[in-house]
Amino acid sequence: MTNLIGMKDIEKDIHRVLDDALTMKNGRISFAPLKGKVLSMLFEKPSLRTRVSLEVGFRQLGGHPIYLSPNEVGIGKRESTHDVAMVLSRFADIITYRAFLHQNMVELSEYATVPVINALDDLEHPCQIMADLLTIKEHKGNFKRKLAYVGDGNNVCNSLLLGSAMVGMDISAATPEGYGPDPGIVKMARAISGKTWCTVELTHDPLEGVKGADVIYTDTWTSMGNDEERDERMKVFPPFQVNRKLAEEADEDYIFMHCLPVHRGEEVTDEIIDGPHSVVFDEAENRMHAQKAIILWALDIPVVTPE
Ligand code: CP
Ligand code: NVA
Repeated sequence: MTNLIGMKDIEKDIHRVLDDALTMKNGRISFAPLKGKVLSMLFEKPSLRTRVSLEVGFRQLGGHPIYLSPNEVGIGKRESTHDVAMVLSRFADIITYRAFLHQNMVELSEYATVPVINALDDLEHPCQIMADLLTIKEHKGNFKRKLAYVGDGNNVCNSLLLGSAMVGMDISAATPEGYGPDPGIVKMARAISGKTWCTVELTHDPLEGVKGADVIYTDTWTSMGNDEERDERMKVFPPFQVNRKLAEEADEDYIFMHCLPVHRGEEVTDEIIDGPHSVVFDEAENRMHAQKAIILWALDIPVVTPE
């Protein structure tokens, strides 16, 4: 048992956290529950949304976030993961960590004595998926839906498989051969889906994957850390582009989602991401609302609404 807060750890409380996020988004909170608390934000990779949404959200709740950039700490190089975890735990009430390797995420959380929130690694991106579920709840009203993920079976795809299964939403992941999601995560998602009565399907055919979907979701074909594979990937992935032809297979009221940053003209056309079905900026804003709820949940602080 570690202090790690990832998708799996939130399973039994996922609906409560989503409801708390909506409550705070709608302004129904009248106190500063994080007054006097410090968030340490340890980043090994660049970020726009995750960094800004964490900082703004933590401040809105009365707390003090401290950002530590990729060049600053040198985790595992300038100083061991163990020592970084021990030192940060003496100053901070909670840590968010963006890591290259999931193994380092687990290691840091094992040594830390405060909760560690996964802010993306090579296996998962749980904070993103909580915001995505919030966005689907807002736009579609419920999770009796089908989400079609199209593209690379990466960290976002892995966490979407787990998150969809937890809320009972059907998911299909269409990926090229050799670029599928993590087999351990697929197994876990299927086990969860048996309890929540939904389906987890994998395919190599994007048209089949998107058929009847309420949500089409894609992400970059080359994640941070895979840069040297970019040329090879650019040869493999074009049939998985989300464009008008592919979107015609979806439900007519489908929404389009992308975690951003986007490579326009690669994984999605401008017409789709800028079109009437796209909710990508609601999704980006929801990063903050979801993370505020995750942080309060991790610190066991209830969301109190005015009478
Ligand atoms: N979606 C997301 O995590 O964006 P950043 O990498 O900019 O934080
Ligand atoms: N899969 C992408 C997500 C970026 C938010 C990456 O890991 O780079």
